[in-house]
Amino acid sequence: MRLLQITAALALCSTFSGKINVMAKSGTFLHVTDIHLDEHYLEKSDPATNCHRKDGDKSKNTAGHFGTLGSDCDSPVSLVDSVFDFMKGAAFQDVDFIVYTGDTARHDRDSKLKRTDSDILAAHKKVLSYFSKTFDMNKVTLLPTLGNNDMFDHNAMNVAESDKNSMNILEDLKQLWKPLDLNLTSDFSNGGYFVQNIANGPSVISLNSMYFFTSNTEVSDCDKAGSPGAEELVWLEGQLQEVQRSNKKAYLMSHVPPVDKSDILYKSKCYSQYVNLLGKYSEVIAAHLTGHTNDDNLAVLYKNGKDYSLTGLSKKVNIDFKTNDIVGVLTNAPSVLPQNNPGIRVYQYDQSDYTILGWDQYSTDLKKANKNNRITWQKEYSSGQVYGVQKLDASGWRSVVQKLKTSKKVFNKYKSFIKVEGI
Ligand SMILES: *[C@@H]1O[C@H](CO)[C@@H](O)[C@H](O)[C@H]1NC(C)=O
Repeated sequence: MRLLQITAALALCSTFSGKINVMAKSGTFLHVTDIHLDEHYLEKSDPATNCHRKDGDKSKNTAGHFGTLGSDCDSPVSLVDSVFDFMKGAAFQDVDFIVYTGDTARHDRDSKLKRTDSDILAAHKKVLSYFSKTFDMNKVTLLPTLGNNDMFDHNAMNVAESDKNSMNILEDLKQLWKPLDLNLTSDFSNGGYFVQNIANGPSVISLNSMYFFTSNTEVSDCDKAGSPGAEELVWLEGQLQEVQRSNKKAYLMSHVPPVDKSDILYKSKCYSQYVNLLGKYSEVIAAHLTGHTNDDNLAVLYKNGKDYSLTGLSKKVNIDFKTNDIVGVLTNAPSVLPQNNPGIRVYQYDQSDYTILGWDQYSTDLKKANKNNRITWQKEYSSGQVYGVQKLDASGWRSVVQKLKTSKKVFNKYKSFIKVEGI
């Protein structure tokens, strides 16, 4: 079908210009994040128990069938089943690759039901099997990364011998991910990051944000020589130079974004060095894809004197930067975990230069699903329709930010998307 459309488009182009091949073909990829599967989730239990137990007082047992919006409960099997069922649809089966930015396991919040190492591995296995039952893994590359809940110790990861336990997860995952046929070199065994060159596509760099994340107190900031974060940044720059030399484009993916709507989530030196790398290589980096915060949000990367800065957009477009200084925008996708309404997203990209063209955000109205005992997923919005921009290179992003700055209507839409309430 897509081939037919492309042929038709090419035919049209040739009629108008007298030349073939002036229109680029577009590819698509899927972004899924923060599944947080919890097989202990109990419908009509008390959310104060992380939806694990019922209270004697029946009025407290409000846990919904498909999840409990905005609570401290993780995703029930019914929700995860439904999102993977939805992904069996045509819009998703055609994708060229899948970016999965982690947080597979449930949170370790329930002191009466502690999470064990084998629970975590079981969650990784289960979610991998969901993907392989939903997609033809011979055709689609699944690109995973580690979340802060995917390791044996919550938020904690070190490279030191003394912390063997937290490193073993990398060997376990390397085994588990074997069928994915990924480029897991010694870089992955040592640091949890890797590069995957997609055939006729971008080089996807899957980063380990755990070495930058403020909550990981096991490792020092990136100004400390030999700290795993400092080493990762050196590695990243090497990879970006490689991509630049080969005239390709890189898509960066990781679990934790450098900024939330307003807060900085990386250690201070890791943060400034990382942001400057993003700026320095902004012409090479065509996409920056993260999850973790459960919000759909945009962070503007702009030149600030001789350095670069990053501003997450939340209540307003900060006016401390000039539109012309913008070199890119980082996109953060909402989670399956029902902190907000659950969502997944499909990006379109130009297959000749790998520029992002836009994305379609899909979501479900969870309260309605629980009320009707029936869940339906639909398109929440298309970036192209909302922002009126069809190519998200630096100049396209400038137009998007300009629109957010000048149109209250567009900005209010954006605000409703943050919480996945645009349906
Ligand atoms: C594999 O990863 C290494 C870095 O670990 C990278 O230099 C190389 O280009 C990658 N190769 C492929 C085929 O993706």
